[in-house]
Amino acid sequence: SPFPLFVLSIRHQNVTRLCHKKSMVTVNGKFPGPRIVAREGDRLVITVVNHVQNNISIHWHGIRQLQSGWADGPAYVTQCPIQTGQRYVYNYTIKGQRGTLFWHAHISWLRSTLYGPLIILPKKNVQYPFAKPHKEVPIIFGEWFNGDTEAIIAQALQTGGGPNVSDAYTINGLPGPLIIVRLKVKPGKTYLLRFINAALNDELFFSIANHTLTVVEADAVYVKPFETDTILIAPGQTTNVLLKTKPYFPNATFLMLARPYATGLGTFDNSTVAGIVEYETTIITQSSNSSLKNLPLFKPVLPQLNDTSFATNFSNKLHSLANSQFPANVPQKVDKHFFFTVGVGTNPCNTNQTCQGPNGTMFAASVNNVSYTMPTTALLQAHYFGQSNGVYTPDFPTTPLNPFNYTGTPPNNTMVGNGTKVVVLPFNTSVELVLQDTSILGVESHPLHLHGFNFFVVGQGFGNYDSNKDPQNFNLVDPVERNTVGVPSGGWVAIRFLADNPGAWFMHCHLEVHTSWGLKMAWIVLDGKLPNQKVLPPPADLPKC
Ligand code: C2O
Repeated sequence: SPFPLFVLSIRHQNVTRLCHKKSMVTVNGKFPGPRIVAREGDRLVITVVNHVQNNISIHWHGIRQLQSGWADGPAYVTQCPIQTGQRYVYNYTIKGQRGTLFWHAHISWLRSTLYGPLIILPKKNVQYPFAKPHKEVPIIFGEWFNGDTEAIIAQALQTGGGPNVSDAYTINGLPGPLIIVRLKVKPGKTYLLRFINAALNDELFFSIANHTLTVVEADAVYVKPFETDTILIAPGQTTNVLLKTKPYFPNATFLMLARPYATGLGTFDNSTVAGIVEYETTIITQSSNSSLKNLPLFKPVLPQLNDTSFATNFSNKLHSLANSQFPANVPQKVDKHFFFTVGVGTNPCNTNQTCQGPNGTMFAASVNNVSYTMPTTALLQAHYFGQSNGVYTPDFPTTPLNPFNYTGTPPNNTMVGNGTKVVVLPFNTSVELVLQDTSILGVESHPLHLHGFNFFVVGQGFGNYDSNKDPQNFNLVDPVERNTVGVPSGGWVAIRFLADNPGAWFMHCHLEVHTSWGLKMAWIVLDGKLPNQKVLPPPADLPKC
């Protein structure tokens, strides 16, 4: 066939981890789900068949979906979910992108078990901007819950409290400690490790003992290579690194560890997950785990749990290549400025029981004090057919309605508003968006993810953003280009993008608990004049609501 065909069959499967067996929703019976490998320029035709009772939708996280917005996947944004017994074909072409991305369910908390790598190789005969690696290895982080994650989030939303945290982190689906990932390497070679953070609620530090990592790509965009002992990766982010193995025969095993970076409310899984790097030349490699115990085991040292200065330094090291082959098309002029506060607040208790959120309220999270309410039909449908009435309103505020001292003493009023509000942008608007963390209920880093675009991270800082001073320090030359950025804990980040992709595009915190509490909104980009600047008609099999 001229293009890769995939069938993702959504069905229940018994999976055992941490001695807990549970029947969970899987793709093709696998956890994590299958790896999808394609090349830049390929058209992907992926049929998703729903054999479970849950409503399903799948998102191809980081794929720009140029003129294929109907295939983006977030439920009630670009499509209604695929109902039990139904199927939907995600049909899109990968234009101008190559690198590591991932796919995941985009409805409720189903992405806790429905996710897998989406690897886009360069076009045939096109090289990486670094020496060809000996081998490529995807490493996908996740979170394992002994309980059913749909029940966990449903209960939290009902009672207004915080949901249970996960019982373990996983590397390629394995939480340890009995079965862990064993990365077998040869000495004196270079490996391309493709890291994906598919965890629900935690940013992670990762390090390999006695080895240096060279970061070469973030969110499927090449970066200027830099060396580090540890990487920081937020949910929704992907990072490619080169691992150069030692040239000699090291009769040893090297631990690799991941553990969260967390500030704020403190409702996170405080555990560590391990894997090992094992040199194939070590004689005992072929033998049992027990003889491994006789080898010296080197352990990496990870930053402290709340090491925000590490986070800042790490993100400051990321720069796009910005060369003739891979230019950084940073918008130099801005048509529209936006200033969005992101944070956690509360809603009044509206259940009959006592709510378990702060002071008897319910947790709610917001952007510019608007906690997003999911509509019952998809935004893109409503927009395309001119039926926005009763679905969404185009009045999302460009700045907070009540400005306050964002990172100082929190205001007494923690209540947020509710609504399905969007920003409507003319085609090709050049956007600057400042995302400001607030301290309403604790300062916290929020990994904000934008669908349909990559953006450039032109600035970041601590405290309150100063619109007079801070833009003077913006990097408009080689800022990193990505799809998910951590809003610094107690600070702000400024991004720019060109709204050259007509359609309805979700933006939300990739900490799933915050998304569930309402930290999400959408952009609607209007059609341009030319035929290739318009939303195309929906496919005939687009799911009905
Ligand atoms: Cu990976 Cu809307 O998310």
